Amino acid sequence: MIVLGIETSCDETSVAIVDKNNVLINIVASQILHREYGGVVPEFASREHIRLIEVIARDAINGAIKDINRVDGIAATYGPGLMGALLVGLSFAKGIACTLNKSFIAVNHIEAHIMVNFLSCYDLKYPFMCLLVSGGHTMLIYVEEFRKYKLIGRSVDDAVGEAFDKGSRILGLGYPGGPIIDKLAASGIKDFYPFPRAKLKSSEFDFSFSGIKTSLLYLVKKKGMNWVKTNINHICASYQEAIIEMLLTNTIKAIEFTGVDKLVLAGGVAANSRLREMFNTELKNRGVKLYYPPLEYCTDNAAMIAYTGYEMLKRGYTSPLNISPFPNLKLGI
Ligand code: KG4
Ligand code: ZN
Repeated sequence: MIVLGIETSCDETSVAIVDKNNVLINIVASQILHREYGGVVPEFASREHIRLIEVIARDAINGAIKDINRVDGIAATYGPGLMGALLVGLSFAKGIACTLNKSFIAVNHIEAHIMVNFLSCYDLKYPFMCLLVSGGHTMLIYVEEFRKYKLIGRSVDDAVGEAFDKGSRILGLGYPGGPIIDKLAASGIKDFYPFPRAKLKSSEFDFSFSGIKTSLLYLVKKKGMNWVKTNINHICASYQEAIIEMLLTNTIKAIEFTGVDKLVLAGGVAANSRLREMFNTELKNRGVKLYYPPLEYCTDNAAMIAYTGYEMLKRGYTSPLNISPFPNLKLGI
């Protein structure tokens, strides 16, 4: 069963083709034009998707299957994401499905970030805990079985990816901030500055990242940019350490609470090298098996959309062609 997947929810224009769980091709064009603005400009993102989507789709088809008629289904992200950006990929996918009379599958972007782990972790079985950490979401999700989710914890303010991106901006570094901070932190002193670790009264599984960001802002204002430049590696290392410690503390509580023995990391921040290192060590000590996707499947990509589409199509899920983009789409919890 061959499924073509399209992802345009934010600033990656991506098309992939899978044959069952084999990825035949996965082309990802990251829109670098947003870098000079320090964040994604929604209108520019939509226009770039329009400019790129057809070229990339043609390249994917020519590179993998030659003939578009070989596909059984067309899958596209319908949310969550930026309205205009979603609209481009979704409309394009519907157009192909309608013209070729193929099945159409609208895919939830959050669900795809979780599902992509099955592409590389062959021994992964339900149930498991998932820590989803991206630019838009920070969630602890108990995944009972296919499409059966229970939300255990979430961020009450900024997503963890935002904490990296906004922190990077405060420090005068580039966008996206996660990979830059990750790299600079590698040679820094982790306890150089005691950034606060937020603990919420509302729920022991919820996260908050607005406090640490404000703490960084005050520190930079107080000490000045010259001090920041001299100590940039140490500041990044201690900022990153505090963020990851908050993620780890609540994740361990959630694992103990549910008694689950598998943890899956998903989303762009799962690419963070210190996060992987800390989680590896801590979970091994607790006898919990850790799974995470390879780097290219952490950040946004269409392979995760095509594969989730395949898993849905094989179970008979299809979507009507009048389905609209859903910027605030939640996981079916
Ligand atoms: O999953 P993703 O590509 O898009 C969303 O669905 O949001 O995640 C993007 C986020 C950005 O905030 C980016 O800074 C972060 O993932 N990120 C990282 C790393 N690589 C990407 N954060 C920390 N360390 C990294 N190595
Ligand atoms: Zn994403």
